[in-house]
Amino acid sequence: MDQVFERKVQRRESDGQILSLDSLTDAHLAPIIKIAQESFDVVWSEKEFTELLKNPDSVAKGAFYGGELVGYFFGIDIQGDLDIITLATSKRFRQLGIATLLLNTVLKNVRGEAFLEVDLRNDAALAFYRKAGFIEGRIRKAYYQNKYDALCMSLVVG
Ligand SMILES: CC(C)(COP(=O)(O)OP(=O)(O)OC[C@H]1O[C@@H](n2cnc3c(N)ncnc32)[C@H](O)[C@@H]1OP(=O)(O)O)[C@@H](O)C(=O)NCCC(=O)NCCS
Repeated sequence: MDQVFERKVQRRESDGQILSLDSLTDAHLAPIIKIAQESFDVVWSEKEFTELLKNPDSVAKGAFYGGELVGYFFGIDIQGDLDIITLATSKRFRQLGIATLLLNTVLKNVRGEAFLEVDLRNDAALAFYRKAGFIEGRIRKAYYQNKYDALCMSLVVG
């Protein structure tokens, strides 16, 4: 596991728990929704997450700390490119490198480009994707249900 990440979670590992990554399934819906609720103003429904999990092209990865889901990543593989759909870390576990670990892990299987839309007001997410090397593209006006604007970002991986 990434050295910087190991150092950052050191204090949390003092209780002997282990952080691991695994594929997400229907069994994780409840904790996924719990993290989504504390992370977004407009929260995806259980049906929407279920549809994503059913999609054969979905990339659905979770970070688990001592068995508890503490972060999730959802993307769609489009013939080697990756459309990043949604990503969140449990509030208690933020800024420890968990989203970076999830992103870096899924990017290993991307042969082309990774791309996403992010709420222009979401400073943490903008900083996160910028640090990961994503380049800013155009603005999509009123992209979200609540009519807020989105910034398109992309990263050439392979
Ligand atoms: C954005 C989000 C996923 C980041 O998750 P995280 O696990 O805390 O991210 P990391 O610890 O891997 O952060 C990596 C880098 O991103 C940047 N970053 C992350 N959170 C930040 C914040 N609140 N403010 C400024 N920069 C931030 C930093 O550069 C950080 O590196 P550093 O800790 O060495 O400074 C998390 O804040 C979150 O779940 N937000 C709510 C949901 C959301 O907005 N999702 C993204 C849009 S789909």
